[in-house]
Amino acid sequence: MAREFSTVGVVGLGTMGAGIVEVFARNGIDVVAVEISEPALERGRVTLTGSTDRAVAKGKLAAADRDALHERVHFAVGLEALHSVDLVIEAVPEHLDLKQRIFAELDRICRPETILATNTSSLSVTEISVATSRPNQVIGIHFFNPAPVMKLVEVVRTVVTAPEVVADVEALCSRLGKVDVTINDRAGFIANALLFGYLNHAVGMFESHYATREDIDAAMKLGCGLPMGPLALMDLIGLDTAYEILDTMYRRGGRDRRHAPVPLLKQMVTAGLLGRKSGRGFYTYERPGSPVVVPDEATPLATESALADGARAITKVGVVGSGTMATGIIEVFAKAGYEVISVTRGMEKSAKVCEAVKTSLNKGVVRGKLAEADRDAALGRISWSATLDHLADVDLVVEAVVEELSVKKALFASLDEICKPGVVLATTTSSLPVIDVAMATHRPADVVGLHFFNPAPVMPLVEVIRTIRTSPEATATARAVCAALGKTGVVCGDRSGFIVNALLFPYLNDAVKMLEASYSTADDIDHAMKLGCGYPMGPFELLDVVGLDVSLAIQRELYLELREPGFAPAPLLEHLVTAGYLGRKTRRGFRDHSHR
Ligand SMILES: NC(=O)c1ccc[n+]([C@@H]2O[C@H](COP(=O)([O-])OP(=O)(O)OC[C@H]3O[C@@H](n4cnc5c(N)ncnc54)[C@H](O)[C@@H]3O)[C@@H](O)[C@H]2O)c1
Repeated sequence: MAREFSTVGVVGLGTMGAGIVEVFARNGIDVVAVEISEPALERGRVTLTGSTDRAVAKGKLAAADRDALHERVHFAVGLEALHSVDLVIEAVPEHLDLKQRIFAELDRICRPETILATNTSSLSVTEISVATSRPNQVIGIHFFNPAPVMKLVEVVRTVVTAPEVVADVEALCSRLGKVDVTINDRAGFIANALLFGYLNHAVGMFESHYATREDIDAAMKLGCGLPMGPLALMDLIGLDTAYEILDTMYRRGGRDRRHAPVPLLKQMVTAGLLGRKSGRGFYTYERPGSPVVVPDEATPLATESALADGARAITKVGVVGSGTMATGIIEVFAKAGYEVISVTRGMEKSAKVCEAVKTSLNKGVVRGKLAEADRDAALGRISWSATLDHLADVDLVVEAVVEELSVKKALFASLDEICKPGVVLATTTSSLPVIDVAMATHRPADVVGLHFFNPAPVMPLVEVIRTIRTSPEATATARAVCAALGKTGVVCGDRSGFIVNALLFPYLNDAVKMLEASYSTADDIDHAMKLGCGYPMGPFELLDVVGLDVSLAIQRELYLELREPGFAPAPLLEHLVTAGYLGRKTRRGFRDHSHR
């Protein structure tokens, strides 16, 4: 029989603690909520009230249940109030000495059978436990932010945590409606170990002006379907907390440079820019604690101003290539009202592309998303050619031929001879340096990358890559074109992986390394990222969809360009590729798909 928890204590009512109080009280458990001072207690009370009021306003909680919830919470200053609770969860700032002091006090105050739990994200639960005389009753219960919403709880057992304590806490998590994964005491556990390298990398991109905060966040939301971008997430976590987590992970987790906090973070913390809780972090909020972002001096002006930036008028577009991407891109431009000239290497190929575009447009008609007249008009805007000479008077060329530098360079050299002055020349490469292609022409200022995602008619994101030679006018033109296509264009520098792949694949690679180290299972890791961070797919699900060979190739390029030891491809990924386990396309990758 699992132990009954009728009263729990929560220490620290900040970002996490206030949410944890709500989780318990919502599930009928009495809570003693403790803070260090009256003002801090009042802040915690306001946070709890704000959150439950929002739940009532959204119809997710009845007003009577809210009132009952509040009656279950007893607020107090000082740890002495916790003398008779069954379980304590500590959620004070991420400092080992502070947590150890609190655990020593709790050990003295609480009944001998009380379980003492920490919500630490990165500190050693073992080191915290030895500050007490009952390390076997100390455990990590790691909730995710916001605690009332996120389903995952990581239960962290140390080498001395008693098995019945683990079982009791697991049963408690189920009672709270949470899904738990139980793991050993390692820096960052599952989710943060995979998340924080990515978050820090995104901050580094921002710090180096590689892309704006809005573009970095939009790229990850729209390119990967994440619930929020990395910088908005840093603001939610709290930059002081994020700094401490990174710093601890760096020291505990093998001094991986990717966890060394980007210098900007420390500066922001020192300047009091802590994220949502202080009203200002990477973004500016309506007021401290508010989730509502308000414009500030860094907020970009509306897209209409692109013309003011020197964007050129585009009416006629050439698309070169006959593959999946070219086909999708032709459709996107034609649907948006552009006159399109498709150029392939022969009329047979043109006929095929034409068929593919028709089939796709017809699907839109069948699904009721496109009127027949609009389909016909779109098709009427496309002309089919097998010679580049027809691109002499287009305003924009989008190249989507095979991913080979020599082929692309030769093509751009030809375009340079054929096209009129002022045309913007774009490559859809996903892995080659755009500057190499640009330098094959005599007009590198007019060359940009336009990285569409597959399938182009569906995916809302386009990465606009500006090289060190690209003119502001060409960049503005590319961005304005994306907007006219109904896509979000994000502008970034010319580095391997641009924004999305550079941030995504190292995370996937880290997940493989974690599996390889036998820290957890593929199922638990997938669960942790979906339920703890709201990702649409876990890393192993995604790797099997993308293809292990494709993932390995991207990861290798990132490693070769940046020489970052942490980016070295996971040996397990290499072995699976060598063995021909490439994911869904071969019916076996990290999982066996043969029966599905
Ligand atoms: N922020 C996140 O997204 C997140 C997610 C999961 C876990 N965590 C972990 O949760 C813990 C708390 O983080 P947070 O982001 O909520 O921090 P926070 O800074 O928002 O809140 C900490 C609270 O602890 C209070 N406090 C400080 N000393 C205290 C004491 N001696 N007694 C009682 N209260 C005291 C502070 O007044 C403050 O209200 C950390 O260990 C952190 O790593 C954070």
